[in-house]
Amino acid sequence: KKSYKICCLPGDCIGPEIMAEGKKVLAAVGQRFGVEFVCEDALIGGAAIDACGTALPDETLDAARASDAVLLAAVGGPKWDTTDPAAPRPEQGLLKIRKELGLYTNLRPVQIFSALSGASTLKPEVIDGVDMMIVRELTGGLYFGRRERFYDEEGAGADGKPGQRAYDTLEYREYEIERIARQAFEAARKRRGKVASVDKANVLETSRMWREIVHRIHDEDYADVELEDVLVDNAAMQLINRPADFDVVVTENMFGDILSDEAAQITGSLGMLASASLGDGVALYEPSHGSAPDIAGKGIANPLAQILSVEMMLRYSFDMGEAADAIRAAVTAVLDDGLRTRDIADAGTPEENVLGTAAMGDAVVARL
Ligand code: NAD
Ligand code: IPM
Ligand code: MN
Repeated sequence: KKSYKICCLPGDCIGPEIMAEGKKVLAAVGQRFGVEFVCEDALIGGAAIDACGTALPDETLDAARASDAVLLAAVGGPKWDTTDPAAPRPEQGLLKIRKELGLYTNLRPVQIFSALSGASTLKPEVIDGVDMMIVRELTGGLYFGRRERFYDEEGAGADGKPGQRAYDTLEYREYEIERIARQAFEAARKRRGKVASVDKANVLETSRMWREIVHRIHDEDYADVELEDVLVDNAAMQLINRPADFDVVVTENMFGDILSDEAAQITGSLGMLASASLGDGVALYEPSHGSAPDIAGKGIANPLAQILSVEMMLRYSFDMGEAADAIRAAVTAVLDDGLRTRDIADAGTPEENVLGTAAMGDAVVARL
């Protein structure tokens, strides 16, 4: 019997609640397909700060490296929000594990479950046919550039008086853009053959370089793929104007962060958006949303983004396409039956069909 080691990182707030459902589904799918998944928890984020004073302990990184795949839930929360630049923050743990594992490609599939067409805030005819893959660069840009906050004895204010200053640097290297562009074109070839590259080339030097390199890679090796450039502000608008037109959307780290939350809402809820973070070694799977402190501890979080991240794990790390399809089919069936968590329920949902986190996980498992 095949056996895989999964490093599970529950994190904070709703993290442990949705992780439990991801594990349930993993166990069920393993049983059905004759594969053993051995899950081991490790600390990250606020939970790790509380236990060891750092958001990503070395033991966690070692455990992740020694695993066959990493499943993460979410990190962060008001408890660890601080303006002290020297204090540890939960989010640092996430950024560090992405960087250390070299996870430069973040795939965020935006797909509509037809049962949920009423859950979106957009009109059904606008979201009909939406099937988009956001390819977000994950280990470069503003998130990892030089940064500083300091008290400037002179020149901080318009009047030249002392005051605070801060900066973050947006930097990319050629190879970083080349490799993410290739990922996007490869993804497009397996889909509808279209790539929209999103940048701010009318203002930013990094974006002008981005555009030039994306076009060079396209012309050299992927001329069969249709390529369009879209400025990021326009992209934000087009995403809700003509979402079904987009196939692959490739963009730098922070633009991808922002646009993927926007795109999630097309599907009805952030609670539906899974993600895969891939590099050259072990991969990491996590919902695109955060730790939702506003609903933590209530047992009402939507576990489907976590469960669909398990689906992506099976597909990308273990080549278990059939098992991944089974998870997707189970989720589809549950939604077709009218079962909902609070975030994807609408006015027409009968109260008895509104499930909590664990009941939703159980419903998916029952279909498996
Ligand atoms: P968030 O994504 O946690 O929540 C935004 C809104 O969406 C909230 O109203 C929340 O209740 C809702 N939501 C999110 N996931 C949901 C789910 N599964 N089911 C139902 N509703 C859901 O974003 P935020 O509130 O801006 O950030 C909260 C914390 O999460 C911050 O500390 C942030 O840094 C962190 N964060 C972590 C990750 C991650 O771990 N990958 C991602 C984003 C934000
Ligand atoms: C995400 C999150 C993270 C990001 C934060 C928590 C660092 O918003 O995964 O989208 O910005 O990448
Ligand atoms: Mn985000």
